[in-house]
Amino acid sequence: MALDRTYRLVPGTTIFDADQAAKGYHLNQFCMSLMKAENRARFLADQRAYLDEWPLREEQKQALLDRDLNAAMREGGNIYFLAKWGAALGLSFQQMAGSMTGMTEQEYRDMMVGGGRSLEGNRIDHAVLDAAYADQAPPAEHAVITGAVFTSHVPAIGAALDHGKTEEPYWKPVFAGYDYAKQWEKDDLPDVVFLVYNDHATAFDSSIIPTFVLGTGAAYPTADEGYGPRPVPGIEGDPGLAAHIAHSLIQDDFDLTLVNEMPVDHGLTVPLSLMFGDVAKWPVKVIPFHVNVVQYPVPSGARCFKLGQALRKAIESYDRPLKVQVWGTGGMSHQLQGPRAGLINREWDNAFLDKLIEDPAGLAQVPHLEYVEQAGSEGIELVMWLIARGAMSDVDGSGQVEVKHRFYHVPASNTAVGHLVLENQPSLENHPRAVEPAEGVS
Ligand code: DHB
Ligand code: FE
Repeated sequence: MALDRTYRLVPGTTIFDADQAAKGYHLNQFCMSLMKAENRARFLADQRAYLDEWPLREEQKQALLDRDLNAAMREGGNIYFLAKWGAALGLSFQQMAGSMTGMTEQEYRDMMVGGGRSLEGNRIDHAVLDAAYADQAPPAEHAVITGAVFTSHVPAIGAALDHGKTEEPYWKPVFAGYDYAKQWEKDDLPDVVFLVYNDHATAFDSSIIPTFVLGTGAAYPTADEGYGPRPVPGIEGDPGLAAHIAHSLIQDDFDLTLVNEMPVDHGLTVPLSLMFGDVAKWPVKVIPFHVNVVQYPVPSGARCFKLGQALRKAIESYDRPLKVQVWGTGGMSHQLQGPRAGLINREWDNAFLDKLIEDPAGLAQVPHLEYVEQAGSEGIELVMWLIARGAMSDVDGSGQVEVKHRFYHVPASNTAVGHLVLENQPSLENHPRAVEPAEGVS
């Protein structure tokens, strides 16, 4: 058992986890639609016809038509979502809960008045639980991290590519810095890129400010940031691996926000263009990972570095033989605002690259104030690079990294461009176990 899913052993109980959420995605979204009076009216007028408008499996539709909530839960429904459906039909929570127990409404009500259901006869089978813990061997095959790419994600680079300006004297040296990485990607194409970037007030505005967002969706459209969407392909996600990473990281106390639907902006698409060029379809699946570096408080370098380490454990415990790269984007020094706009600090940037390679744990201790003072207000994007660096195998001594390419150039628009390619050389015997049994649970 790779991850702790022992909650599945609680009798008479369905825990709504990432697998269930994926299974019930459209069913639950259908339920949400019933929060609008006009949709409720259409549903009640012809339930089958309204259900047919949704991309639901027949089992899901039938469960609702039969008012069989146990079946709806098996099909990925969650009680708080299904409650919207129940409410549209005039059912109370007590009626809905009682309908799943095999009791009549009156019997269930009487049981609750009598003090509720007893735990006796409703406990976990501890023999089964102990057997589950005993079966904690690492998976026979698993995903590996093959490398890390670090790069600026300046939107003007995307615009230069999209408008055929790559040969202009201003841009030519910038793109030349990426020739190595383009070939390196071709030579050992990963299956999935875990792409750390920041959304720039595109998918997330002042109405919601999540610190860490993991994209668990199947696909993400290219955002329109005001100039029209970039003429690049949309992104295909990897919901299976992303759900596994979500489970592992959250169990390791990284309280992520999971997002299934969001447009992705230049922070994500420009690095893809730099690595893969002008293509009709991106040659890899992408798991977007957004870090809030727009509104303070933003996460520390130390937190990002630790997250990277937990990310490696998550990826290496996924039981499919995928090749995964982790990319860190943004930076290097830049300030896009105020009288100090245009700040560039070559010395600090290059020291950052040196330390990123040789002493990432030390670099992780650098406080925000230093980034802002030395690298400019938007230079804070560089904390994201520590996530990708933390995911390399040399960090805990279990493997090594090799610097394949390093590049630095000023300017691209308002920034210094920095770029680094690290090959990860894990020692596979050392790959970490996914989870130890929780203390006190046995
Ligand atoms: C610029 C750089 C960025 O990282 C960004 O997100 C937006 C603009 C720039 O230099 O123009
Ligand atoms: Fe940026």
